[in-house]
Amino acid sequence: MWVPGWNPAALLLAAGLWRLLPGRGAAGTEEVIVGEAGRSVVLVCRNVSQKASEVDWFHGDPGAVPPLFSSNATLPEDARLSLVDNSSLRITALRLQDGGNYTCREVLKETAREHRVQLLVASGPSRMTVTISPSTALPNGTVYVDKRDAVTFNCTSDSHPVPTVGWTFQPPSSALEMFTEVNGSTTVFTLSNLSLSFQGNYSCSAKNPLSGSNQTSTTELLVYYPPPSVPKCWAQTAQVGLMLQLFCSWPGGYPHPVLQWTEEGRDLENSSWVVNATGSVDTQVETLNTSRLFHGKGFKCVGSHVVKQEKVEPTCTVQITAPSLETEPLKTCFVGGTVTLTCRVTESNPPARISWLRNVSQPEATIQSGERHLVTQEGSVSNLTIQNCSHATDEGYYVCKAENPVGLQEVYVSLTVKKPVNIVGVVGAVVVLLLLGILILSGIVLYYNPLLCLKGSMFRNQDSTDVFMLVDSEGEEEEAEEEATGKSNAHRVTALVNENSTQTAESDSSEPPRGTSAEDVEREERPATQRQILSFLAEMDGPVDGS
Ligand SMILES: *[C@@H]1O[C@H](CO)[C@@H](O)[C@H](O)[C@H]1NC(C)=O
Ligand SMILES: *[C@@H]1O[C@H](CO)[C@@H](O)[C@H](O)[C@H]1NC(C)=O
Ligand SMILES: *[C@@H]1O[C@H](CO)[C@@H](O)[C@H](O)[C@H]1NC(C)=O
Ligand SMILES: *[C@@H]1O[C@H](CO)[C@@H](O)[C@H](O)[C@H]1NC(C)=O
Ligand SMILES: *[C@@H]1O[C@H](CO)[C@@H](O)[C@H](O)[C@H]1NC(C)=O
Ligand SMILES: *[C@@H]1O[C@H](CO)[C@@H](O)[C@H](O)[C@H]1NC(C)=O
Ligand SMILES: *[C@@H]1O[C@H](CO)[C@@H](O)[C@H](O)[C@H]1NC(C)=O
Ligand SMILES: *[C@@H]1O[C@H](CO)[C@@H](O)[C@H](O)[C@H]1NC(C)=O
Ligand SMILES: *[C@@H]1O[C@H](CO)[C@@H](O)[C@H](O)[C@H]1NC(C)=O
Ligand SMILES: *[C@@H]1O[C@H](CO)[C@@H](O)[C@H](O)[C@H]1NC(C)=O
Ligand SMILES: *[C@@H]1O[C@H](CO)[C@@H](O)[C@H](O)[C@H]1NC(C)=O
Ligand SMILES: *[C@@H]1O[C@H](CO)[C@@H](O)[C@H](O)[C@H]1NC(C)=O
Repeated sequence: MWVPGWNPAALLLAAGLWRLLPGRGAAGTEEVIVGEAGRSVVLVCRNVSQKASEVDWFHGDPGAVPPLFSSNATLPEDARLSLVDNSSLRITALRLQDGGNYTCREVLKETAREHRVQLLVASGPSRMTVTISPSTALPNGTVYVDKRDAVTFNCTSDSHPVPTVGWTFQPPSSALEMFTEVNGSTTVFTLSNLSLSFQGNYSCSAKNPLSGSNQTSTTELLVYYPPPSVPKCWAQTAQVGLMLQLFCSWPGGYPHPVLQWTEEGRDLENSSWVVNATGSVDTQVETLNTSRLFHGKGFKCVGSHVVKQEKVEPTCTVQITAPSLETEPLKTCFVGGTVTLTCRVTESNPPARISWLRNVSQPEATIQSGERHLVTQEGSVSNLTIQNCSHATDEGYYVCKAENPVGLQEVYVSLTVKKPVNIVGVVGAVVVLLLLGILILSGIVLYYNPLLCLKGSMFRNQDSTDVFMLVDSEGEEEEAEEEATGKSNAHRVTALVNENSTQTAESDSSEPPRGTSAEDVEREERPATQRQILSFLAEMDGPVDGS
């Protein structure tokens, strides 16, 4: 039916879109053909007879307008027009103004038959513009937005007639979701309070309602946000060897930040040592050997994130320091006892490894926890507990060593192991001393006051009443005294120091002393008293009843 060489797409389109409309009586059939601007279209003169002598095409009513194209005309006036199959009209490079009603008139044996075709020319959608703002495009065309922004999605499209445009959203591995669809050339919507679940492909589609042509623009959108806090830096000693590890951590952002280590006090540009960390992790670890380190050296980590962050200075610093130690230098342990040597690291960055060593004579012999030794560490404090102290093996110097990649410090602890004190011996000695003291005291007391310890009964048989009267503590003796003297205690004190005790006491109680006080008497008479004691002791040696 069609001649070769035609644009198959246009033919397909024209063939697919035409539809028959209700007839217009004898005038023939009505047909609507949709053509797309810029393309070609063929208007078929239906049911034309092969015997037709002439076919004419009119753009409008045959009576009102001159023929547009005639099979008898030798030269077409418009190069875009041509006759196909001796009867069908082909229009190339369609324009919007080509739309309208066409009539084909077939002349057959002097009778004319007309056929009407309505041509609709659709244009677009074209020149679709999609804007997502504010957003930033990545090199691969993906755009990212700041989570904290309100993001406007705008899609416009040129089309004749007015298109249907709409936004769809497709999250990764999820179903398509329709946002908006309007009959118009522009559709706009705004999203705020974004989250990662808003990441995905955003597509704007415009469809020409006439031609069904559609155009789609897809944008992959990422939702970025900066880390909420400041970066944190710290130093650590590598597990193996004495290497320094610098950690810089700036988590919580998306995507990962870029972290750069540099020497403190220098700009990134001027520093001889800059380490760039690619943004694949939130924590960047840099391992350095010890050669360039010294006490007090500082390192700075500068963080940067694609999403700008206000108010937060994205840097942190770490200063490395050699260890310094404090300890109790002198410790004592009793044989068989337990002692704990404590060693505290007061300053060290990165934290020092603490170890205990025996004497300097075995510098490599690190003390490990074992049968009698227990090494514990809690934070920066290390304890060495020695159980069952032995004088022979444990006494001496211990070394507490703290080491980090920057330096090393050692302190000495001297342990003295003592013999345990014999408790029985101590008690015995105390008792002996006590007894000795009592004896000495007794001796002194007896020396000065010989009567104090003597039983009154021993003296009852004696004539010397003045000696006997001092014994006053027991009622029994008091009775005896009362019997012998009939005097009060006060009188007896005086009597002690008076040779003529009975008389003096009596005079004391009854009348004032004659001429001398009691003290005077005591002073004068002491030698006599001493003599008495001596004589008393002499008597004690001999038989009592002999006196
Ligand atoms: C065109 O001719 C076919 C037969 O070839 C016929 O069936 C049809 O009705 C005709 N259409 C019109 C509009 O005359
Ligand atoms: C058109 O041309 C054909 C021959 O090509 C001729 O037979 C016919 O009569 C012509 N028709 C008219 C209306 O001139
Ligand atoms: C078109 O008309 C010419 C003569 O006018 C004829 O030779 C030719 O076969 C016709 N083509 C078709 C497809 O009928
Ligand atoms: C073409 O014909 C249809 C009816 O068949 C009419 O509604 C329309 O207005 C006509 N178009 C023009 C441009 O005359
Ligand atoms: C584009 O690049 C971003 C990051 O650079 C990546 O996350 C995304 O998957 C890329 N998109 C495509 C379509 O390659
Ligand atoms: C949408 O974009 C079009 C063209 O880019 C612009 O004219 C229009 O003002 C925009 N609409 C909004 C709401 O931004
Ligand atoms: C978005 O579309 C691109 C291709 O246009 C595809 O490679 C990508 O995986 C899609 N992303 C998502 C999240 O669906
Ligand atoms: C757009 O127009 C079509 C036809 O005129 C109608 O069916 C459809 O409901 C309209 N859509 C909207 C969103 O207005
Ligand atoms: C933003 O979204 C979160 C959950 O995604 C919700 O808890 C919060 O209330 C929202 N904030 C606003 C201002 O809508
Ligand atoms: C867009 O057009 C293509 C063919 O060009 C078609 O397969 C698809 O279904 C159309 N999409 C819509 C939404 O009409
Ligand atoms: C680190 O990145 C900066 C730019 O961010 C670049 O100028 C510098 O050369 C990089 N240095 C290294 C060692 O990769
Ligand atoms: C170390 O010993 C001290 C007392 O000697 C004790 O208070 C501390 O808890 C001990 N620390 C460890 C880690 O054992």
